[in-house]
Amino acid sequence: RQSLRKLADNDDLRIGSSIRYDALMEDTAYQELATTEFSSWTIENEMKMDAMQPEENAFNYVKVDEMTEMAQAHDIAIRGHVLVWGEALPAWVQEQAVDRVSAERILKSHIQNIVTHYKGSIDTFDVVNEAYHDNGTLRDNIWLRTIGPDYIPLAFQWAHEANPDANLYYNDFGTEMSNKKSEAMLEALSAWKEEGVPIDGIGTQMHLDAADTRFSKDRIAEWFQRIEDAGFQVAVTEMDVKLQNLNNGDAKNIQAERYRDVMEACLDTAACGEFTVWGISDNHSWITEQESADGKPLLFNENSQPKKAYHTIQRKLLF
Ligand code: G3I
Repeated sequence: RQSLRKLADNDDLRIGSSIRYDALMEDTAYQELATTEFSSWTIENEMKMDAMQPEENAFNYVKVDEMTEMAQAHDIAIRGHVLVWGEALPAWVQEQAVDRVSAERILKSHIQNIVTHYKGSIDTFDVVNEAYHDNGTLRDNIWLRTIGPDYIPLAFQWAHEANPDANLYYNDFGTEMSNKKSEAMLEALSAWKEEGVPIDGIGTQMHLDAADTRFSKDRIAEWFQRIEDAGFQVAVTEMDVKLQNLNNGDAKNIQAERYRDVMEACLDTAACGEFTVWGISDNHSWITEQESADGKPLLFNENSQPKKAYHTIQRKLLF
């Protein structure tokens, strides 16, 4: 078959998947798909703070270095995920980040060590992840409590200082269409950008539920255009479409349509340069592990065979 990667190259589109270290090293079918079907890898878990800095100042680069080397050998780009998040934190942060000064020191050091280490091999980062609630207010986390809302622009500034050439993204879920959360996010990011904060792009995760009747391709396309008009790049960063809530023989078709529609919205938006799915095959998916074995949210089944959704986006890229 014609790989997605080959087809996406013609559209100047990065087609990506999140990648897990263990699966990459141990599952040969997974490695084969990872290296042939995709032109971008997002580090699914190994770059989160608990994995990267398990003890203060003891950076653990081994796994991500290996992944980066394999990616480079196959001419695959890497998306660094994630520098700043309220989750996946090592225990020591709770003890050490006690006030604004200590939290800023810790966060700056974390960001700048990683961005510097991967200068030349990682050109795109999710700098800040999931900072907003659905109602548009900022989520409580240790960085907000100690530093305040400034932790967001500061994170971008620190990353930019370490590598002025890197593409720096804000990344969140539930922000694929206009709503309270996405409007608050875009307003704040736009204001910071106008003040000169180096925010290059907005990642819309796109964790979809096939049973969600509010889905609208037109509203997604409109929203992508709003992001572009505000001067940002757009990326689909974590797409999957879970099926467990849909009691319907048509589930596979609906899933395929969702993938096709989002791909189409991305292709129709000049500023959308990346379409990334959150996992390759259903047997290595957070939905399977954390929600339901009936979720089956990805492009390949548990035997690493392409599903209808795969063929549908393949056709979308062809024509
Ligand atoms: O690998 C260990 C295993 O050795 C251990 O026995 C087992 C017991 O809990 O845990 C395994 O690690 C789990 C890991 O996923 C690998 O499956 C962690 O507990 C679990 O917390 C971790 O969950 C990840 C989650 O983020 C939290 O960091 C998911 O894989 C990952 O897909 C998910 O990704 C997030 C994005 O980063 C941000 N956007 C939402 C997205 C989905 O939640």
